[in-house]
Amino acid sequence: MPSHTDAPAPLIKLEKISKTYAGAVPVTALKEVNLEIGRGDRLALLGKSGSGKSTLLNLLALIDKPSSGALLIDNRESALFSEKEATTYRRQDIGFIFQFFNLLPTLTLRENITLPMELLQQNDDELVRQLVREAGIADKLERYPEEVSGGEQQRAAVIRALVKKPRLILADEPTGNLDLETGLHIVGLINEICDQFGTSLVMVTHSQEAAQACARRLKIIDGHLLNDV
Ligand SMILES: Nc1ncnc2c1ncn2[C@@H]1O[C@H](COP(=O)(O)OP(=O)(O)OP(=O)(O)O)[C@@H](O)[C@H]1O
Ligand SMILES: [Mg+2]
Repeated sequence: MPSHTDAPAPLIKLEKISKTYAGAVPVTALKEVNLEIGRGDRLALLGKSGSGKSTLLNLLALIDKPSSGALLIDNRESALFSEKEATTYRRQDIGFIFQFFNLLPTLTLRENITLPMELLQQNDDELVRQLVREAGIADKLERYPEEVSGGEQQRAAVIRALVKKPRLILADEPTGNLDLETGLHIVGLINEICDQFGTSLVMVTHSQEAAQACARRLKIIDGHLLNDV
């Protein structure tokens, strides 16, 4: 989605974004969050369980809608996107690495990994071969998710997000199920893709080592975002 201003607009800008989940007891998960994400920026997102990290990623991916505030993508208010524009943005621009993987159980790891590329008609078999080899799951590709370990599912979910070459990778604890060494290797793969394609990254992590790989570190405390801690 091209921008029509002279100065390069930030990829994403959040202005006073709040999110309240309705229910018997409404929960305000994000409180007046301001944030700019530029092209190629890498942000680590820290914060305790329940502080609002996944909620923020869901809003950035247009999976969920803010309760108030403005969410600009390429300087356009995303609330005004048509359903088609929102779907195209999610499919084409966002590589989402979900906290709980979200692999499709009826597809093999290979099919899970290649499905987003096929939807975009952007097959890159060489990149898939390279990443699955480096992630150490090349010999597991014909298995279904339930036939591999949690860490292997997580690695497949990471690769599925990377092979699309998205403009923004949203990674929700992408190394949560991995040992330290494997985790750092996977963070290295994510950063290689960012280097290669100028991709922006927002990565939720509890690992100081993984956070070090990001130039900016943000912290959420009870729905409040603290910039660059
Ligand atoms: N669909 C929902 N309906 C109601 N409340 C929700 C919903 N999703 C999240 N919440 C609440 O919003 C708050 C923030 O949740 P969120 O999932 O964003 O936290 P998190 O920082 O990702 O936590 P974790 O580290 O445990 O994954 C929590 O109080 C949570 O209970
Ligand atoms: Mg979460």
